[in-house]
Parts: sequence; C-alpha cells; structure tokens
Amino acid sequence: MNRPERILVTGCSAGLGHALCRELLSRGCRVAGLSRRSDLCADLVSEFPGRFHAIAVDVTADAALQTAVALAVQQLGGLDGVVANAGIGIPATVDSMRMEDVRSIMATNVEGAIHTLLLALPHVRQSNAPVLAAVTSLAGWRAGPGAAPYCASKAALSAFLDSLRAELAHEGITVLDIAPGFVRTPMTARNTFHMPFLMESDVAARLMADAVLARRSHLAFPGPMAAVVWLAKRLPDWLFDLLARRVAKKLRRAGSLGVAKAASARQ
Ligand SMILES: NC(=O)c1ccc[n+]([C@@H]2O[C@H](COP(=O)([O-])OP(=O)(O)OC[C@H]3O[C@@H](n4cnc5c(N)ncnc54)[C@H](OP(=O)(O)O)[C@@H]3O)[C@@H](O)[C@H]2O)c1
Repeated sequence: MNRPERILVTGCSAGLGHALCRELLSRGCRVAGLSRRSDLCADLVSEFPGRFHAIAVDVTADAALQTAVALAVQQLGGLDGVVANAGIGIPATVDSMRMEDVRSIMATNVEGAIHTLLLALPHVRQSNAPVLAAVTSLAGWRAGPGAAPYCASKAALSAFLDSLRAELAHEGITVLDIAPGFVRTPMTARNTFHMPFLMESDVAARLMADAVLARRSHLAFPGPMAAVVWLAKRLPDWLFDLLARRVAKKLRRAGSLGVAKAASARQ
C-alpha cells in the first residue's frame, strides 16, 4: 500500500499536534502545520528545514482557513493526507456552562475540523495514498459528567467521519478516526482530577503516525482506557446511567466535579 508523504496537520503549536508533526517529520514526511500561534513551531522549522511549513490560521475563520490550506498544498507540492487535530476543551458543568463556550467548542472541534477535511478533500483525491483523519476522543464514545459540550463535539465529529468513510470508500480514500483517552498535553495540564492510564504525548504521536501512514480507519488509545470505554458503550443504558450518576455524586462530594474546579478558577 502506498504511504502518504505530504501531510497537513492542524493544531501543531502544542500538545498532540506538535508531537505528531515531529513524529511524521522524523519518518521522512513533509508537513504543513496550521495553528494560531505558529511561532511556537520554530523548533520544527529549524530542525526540519524545507520539510516543515508553519502557517498561522484560526480554523474557525472560514476564508483564512481556505487560504491557509491552499498555501499548504502549494508549499508541499500537493497533499496526500490531513489530520484535523485542532481542538479545545473548555471545562463546563451544567452550572458553569456558558453558551459562548459551547459555541467556541462546536466552532473549533466540529465546524473547524469538518471544514479542514472538506478543503483538503479535492487535493487528497489527486493522491495515490489519500487519507483524511481527525482527532476525536474516547469522550465521544460514552459521555461522562463534567464536559458535556466537549463530549458532544467529539461524538458529532466521529459520526461525520463514519458517513464520510462510507461515501469515500469506493474512491479508495481512507477516513481515519483517532480517539485518544488521556494524554499529557497543555489541554490536560489544568485537570484537577485523576486521569486513568495517562499517556505521554510522544508515545501517542507514534501511535497516531503509525495509523496515518498505514492508512487505518480507526485508532483508539491507550488500550486499557479504550477497553473500559468500549465496555461502557455496550452496557445497557439503565446500568450506564446508574454508574455515571454515582461517578458524578462522588466527584461532587469531593468538592466539585473535577473540571468544574478549573472552570471556577477561570472565572
Ligand atoms: N490531550 C488529551 O488527553 C486528548 C484526549 C482526547 C482528545 N484530544 C484531542 O486532541 C486534539 C489535540 O489536543 P491537545 O491535548 O494536544 O490540546 P492542546 O495541547 O490544547 O493543543 C491544541 C492545539 O490546537 C490548536 N488550536 C486550538 N484552537 C484552534 C483554532 N481555533 N485554530 C487553530 N488551531 C487551534 C492550538 O493551537 P493555537 O492555540 O496556537 O491555535 C494547539 O496547537 C484536540 O482535538 C483534543 O480535543 C486530546
């Protein structure tokens, strides 16, 4: 099977996106990285001269994103793959939730990711190793308490990818859903609760690069966390609801829901 060589990654200035760019570059790929703070990619620009292109853009700004994708295609000389990784996770319980935050989450995690994939599609169609990938989350498989808008955004993106995969299969275009559990990045650094099976971002990036380059259709990690959520997804609804209620009660008794602490600290 052909291997994608020219790849666009959004959300490259920090966390998983930055680690993924580094991993793909170290495996010989050429990469265009999109983020608002593109100056944070100076290390990749100097370590991989001519093979990494940092482009400043906000994925929620339609016209700017269109220009940025066109520039990335021009700089890479075409496009084999895209990883819509840019995402935000604003902490929110039902009492701390603000509509402006809900809209930002949906605009970035759902609309920004979908727009990135749609803009990349015509270019990826010209490739002999086409792959469209997006970073969703295990939180989209079964939603727990404390991050309802985030969980909803990731479930929506996964559903979008499922439809796309079915529609594009006859063209030989791979559609990859990358669903991480907890990974150590700036996004999770603010969490005050215990994060089971927390994975380092370079380890996660290796798994993600493997899946992109092998053009797999699904990736979920860390394995034990994916297994737990896979099981939770298959529980009868009444049993899942009972267990989720208990988790919420326990977190509330401990002072607040874990992420709600971060939300009140922000206000
Ligand atoms: N870390 C985890 O445990 C975990 C688990 C499951 C899923 N995920 C998903 O993995 C992806 C990466 O998460 P992370 O943990 O690496 O987060 P992070 O450390 O906060 O990094 C997020 C990246 O997204 C970019 N970004 C955010 N909003 C953007 C916008 N409007 N336009 C362009 N770029 C934007 C940021 O760049 P700028 O701020 O410079 O624009 C940054 O490079 C996200 O989709 C997240 O939901 C993470």
